[in-house]
Amino acid sequence: MNKRVLVTGGAGYIGSHTTVELIKAGYEVIVVDNLSNSDRAVMKGIEQITGISPRFIEADCCDREAMRRIFEEHDFQSVIHFAAFKAVGESVAEPLKYYRNNLVSLLNVVELMVEYKRRNIVFSSSATVYGDADTLPVTELTPRKPATSPYGNTKQMSEDVLRDTAAACDGFASIALRYFNPIGAHPSALIGELPRGVPNNLVPYITQTAAGIRERLSIFGDDYPTADGSCLRDYIDIVDLARAHVVAIERMIEHRNQKRYEVFNVGTGKPVSVFELVHCFEEANNLKLNYAVAPRRAGDVTAVWADTTLANNTLGWHAERELADTLRAAWQWEKSVRGIE
Ligand code: UFG
Repeated sequence: MNKRVLVTGGAGYIGSHTTVELIKAGYEVIVVDNLSNSDRAVMKGIEQITGISPRFIEADCCDREAMRRIFEEHDFQSVIHFAAFKAVGESVAEPLKYYRNNLVSLLNVVELMVEYKRRNIVFSSSATVYGDADTLPVTELTPRKPATSPYGNTKQMSEDVLRDTAAACDGFASIALRYFNPIGAHPSALIGELPRGVPNNLVPYITQTAAGIRERLSIFGDDYPTADGSCLRDYIDIVDLARAHVVAIERMIEHRNQKRYEVFNVGTGKPVSVFELVHCFEEANNLKLNYAVAPRRAGDVTAVWADTTLANNTLGWHAERELADTLRAAWQWEKSVRGIE
């Protein structure tokens, strides 16, 4: 069995945690990252946690010749493709940047996989493909809605590329994991999320506010049709999410995926409001957060959370970590980055 995995974007937030879980499960990992939204020091954190220093190749997946060299020189059978831009708002302002980066990198990887007969790829998809769903929770059969951002569109188009390639090529298989809202950090506080500039996402904004880097958290809207008026999301612990990639790779290596293209929701199945999340953070970490209600943010859906039955039953994967533990880990990580005692 070939237990070598190429992880693109492996120095990033989800990629680094997945690299740790792969190493723990006995895989040999080759990380490719162009460091456009990550730091070389992350590789040290991975080594400190696992005792193993995975091979690191600084390369851009859009650079076809650089990627070809990697395929020539390494005989991995499986790929996990994280490398992509992910800021929804930026994608609206700079659509071509998103279409080029996210699609060209995927096309390069998939074309090389077919050429070099590498079989398995796990792809980072997103709950954003469901848009403002008509029924909740969403299952994998819930129809995708037209994307509301170029970022979301690249996720839909990438899923289609993988589905069609699997249908056409016998020696190619793919699993798309639709992430809900990944949060938290490794319990060791040696790796975590490192947003550049002002964070777009809720939890890094909360931890930076607690650390005094941001003055106040804005809660975007308290007039949604939910119990407390704030939006509902499905917050999935980053280590739980990382483990989902390991079981997806295992499933493909062991040829348990009869259909060669599969999609799984990766969430907890539990809707949590913005207010609930903020209060859980305060209680878990025994501190008070400065926050205020602000107008709604353009493009936010009222609610989205996962039906995780398929991942639970087919992958044998379950979200395990409690939200309070995840939010404690997020704060530990922020403190370690900022040197706060
Ligand atoms: N929120 C605030 N204040 C903030 C930041 C966020 O109130 O400063 C609220 C948002 O309005 C939303 C919730 O917190 O209700 C979560 O917002 P995030 O930005 O953390 O996450 P989103 O649900 O908007 O987006 C995430 C990923 C996207 C992905 C999407 C799919 O970041 O990449 O889930 O559902 F497309």
